[in-house]
Amino acid sequence: MPRAVILGVGGHVPERVVTNQDMAQWMETSDEWIFERTGIRQRHWIEGEAGGSELAERAVRQALSRAGVELEEIDCIILATLSPDHTFPGTGCFLQERLGLPGIPALDVRAQCSGFIYGLSVADAWIRVGQYKNILLVGTEVHSTGLDISTEGRDVACLFGDGAGAAVVAAGKGDERGVLSTHLHADGRYAKDLWIEAPGSRFQPARITKDMIDAGRHWPKMKGRRVFTKAVKHMPAVIKEGLAHNGMTLDDVDLFVPHQANLRINEAVARLLGIEPDRMYSNIERYGNTTAASIPLALRDAEQEGRLKRGDTLMLVSFGSGFTWASALLRW
Ligand code: COA
Repeated sequence: MPRAVILGVGGHVPERVVTNQDMAQWMETSDEWIFERTGIRQRHWIEGEAGGSELAERAVRQALSRAGVELEEIDCIILATLSPDHTFPGTGCFLQERLGLPGIPALDVRAQCSGFIYGLSVADAWIRVGQYKNILLVGTEVHSTGLDISTEGRDVACLFGDGAGAAVVAAGKGDERGVLSTHLHADGRYAKDLWIEAPGSRFQPARITKDMIDAGRHWPKMKGRRVFTKAVKHMPAVIKEGLAHNGMTLDDVDLFVPHQANLRINEAVARLLGIEPDRMYSNIERYGNTTAASIPLALRDAEQEGRLKRGDTLMLVSFGSGFTWASALLRW
């Protein structure tokens, strides 16, 4: 069975840069507070009206050109987002329309920060059974239009950035390259520890009302400490699970590419595992947390910076809302 190989990655962030100093004009916070606790210096936010599908299109076109694959060769779209352009249909369909690829399947994945690895797992399975050959796997988010940028919402608002990342995932040629394994987990007992409550189809008489908006129930809410402690517990465990499955050790991994939620989380994971900090990739300083887009954006940047070479062994790892967590071991 052919392995799924990532042939090329691309990324796109909006031009507008929002620094921590900018945030401090809208809420009681400071560059020092945000940077010390998260490692974030700035993030990119859209200007005017733009959805995740627009950002995704730019990322996809870069990924295709780096992969050397023509758009017409794509036979499936998998798109992960927690900030869809509209409630329905899935953002994958809006991306498909922008790309001009009618007829092929477009699947949205709702696994938040783990969306890219969950999507990679689906892509890998479909490729192994021969159902599809050239899959576009995309993570895209527009967070900025859904954040409470007052002091009330500062714990969440300072973390998130807009952006998209994309990968062309194709059937391998039977060599060493490709996805070795993926391991996926979730624990819905913590679903409300990082969530947006409304709009919701469970509400009467409408999915969202003025009263709900006045009460701020449409803003994201997070139990930050719980997210931190659970992330630091589950990320090392799912890394070890992936390595054990393949009979490998931490020393076999050239680069760890974690979801970029918080530099302090990733530093703690590295410390717990005894990994040198420079083997744990980070670009959160520039983008903040771009959720489903963060891992493909990190792969794109790591490759551009010369940190990723053909034949390297990579460990992708994520933790986020759901809670969901996952790892993928692959040979680049
Ligand atoms: N600027 C200044 N002060 C802030 C702030 C901000 N942006 N956000 C929160 N605070 C304040 C709080 O209001 C609180 O004030 P109080 O003591 O007067 O009540 C104080 O800082 C401490 O808040 P706390 O939530 O205990 O801070 P913390 O040390 O846990 O750090 C996070 C907060 C969000 C940085 C931290 O919990 C974290 O990183 N959690 C993981 C979040 C994450 O990664 N989420 C995405 C996962 S996908």
